Amino acid sequence: MQHILINKRRIILMLFLAFSMTGLFAQKKNVIHPGEVWPDKDGEHIQAHGGAIFKIKNTYYWYGTERSKELDPDSRYVACYSSKDLMNWKNRGIVFQMSNPDTLANNWVLERPKVFYNQKTKKYVMYFHVDVNYKLAQVGIAVSDKATGPFKYVRRFHPLGYESRDIGQFIDEDGKAYLIFEDRPSGGFRIAKLTEDFMDVEKNMSLVKARIEGGTIVKNDGLYYCLGSGLTGWNPNPNQYATATSLEGPWSEFKNIAPPEVNTYSSQSTFLLKIIGSEKTSVIFMGDIWKPDAQWDSRYLWMPMEIGDGKLWLPEPAPWTINVKTGETKILK
Ligand code: GAL
Repeated sequence: MQHILINKRRIILMLFLAFSMTGLFAQKKNVIHPGEVWPDKDGEHIQAHGGAIFKIKNTYYWYGTERSKELDPDSRYVACYSSKDLMNWKNRGIVFQMSNPDTLANNWVLERPKVFYNQKTKKYVMYFHVDVNYKLAQVGIAVSDKATGPFKYVRRFHPLGYESRDIGQFIDEDGKAYLIFEDRPSGGFRIAKLTEDFMDVEKNMSLVKARIEGGTIVKNDGLYYCLGSGLTGWNPNPNQYATATSLEGPWSEFKNIAPPEVNTYSSQSTFLLKIIGSEKTSVIFMGDIWKPDAQWDSRYLWMPMEIGDGKLWLPEPAPWTINVKTGETKILK
């Protein structure tokens, strides 16, 4: 009898070990480690570079470019991850794959995908930067009926007729959606309103004459904060912000979000995520730490920002945690 019991225990232990190894008992993450490899629920480094996030019901969806080594080099890919706590992410797969339309040369890129959910049409509309040698300077659109795709390519164009390189997205409190795009010939970046169905760019709100890209906006206590990086390609630089009481400006002068010598802790802005909790509203800086020669290993720098009274500050990176229900964040030093 005792013999059978011991055997049973042994079997249970062996099963436990086997399951742990397959990741079925993968440990829950309760901490975000800026700059480190960020494993998804399958233990793979998250591939959602130059990304952005939105929430539907209790789920956050994170979209970005998928840059894994083993992908077909003739296509470009957007991946989606979902999470209920912003710390544990499930890979929802490649939601959009674009193969080289015959009019584009070999060295073309699809970057910085941003997905807008349209409440009226119930469509998910993805904007992305599409380029050849960074000279074509267009935005592309793809559409899906579901957050997790598949997204279908619609078209590519110059928004309002202007060149458009890095793009960012902003949805205001009234649900209106805006595309932020760098317009180099005009010497700045634009904030432009999308049409009601989000399928086109209809109105220029601001041309902000500052050499800023990786643009992103958050509204806090009635003030718009616009943040972006300098134009140094994959290399980091001191990211800066400006404020305005209206998207039409006037915008304040740009100020640093961190000591300039740390070059935004080697990262580049991609999105500001606002979490409205029961206790607190938090704003999270989402940046990319690019590795141009090992793009699949590029890292993420996410940190809760200090925001208020027209000031925006990125604290020195350290592990931190968030409670999405209360909105509270805690830096673990
Ligand atoms: C950066 C831009 C990135 C990528 C890179 C290529 O300026 O923010 O998205 O385009 O240049 O060099």
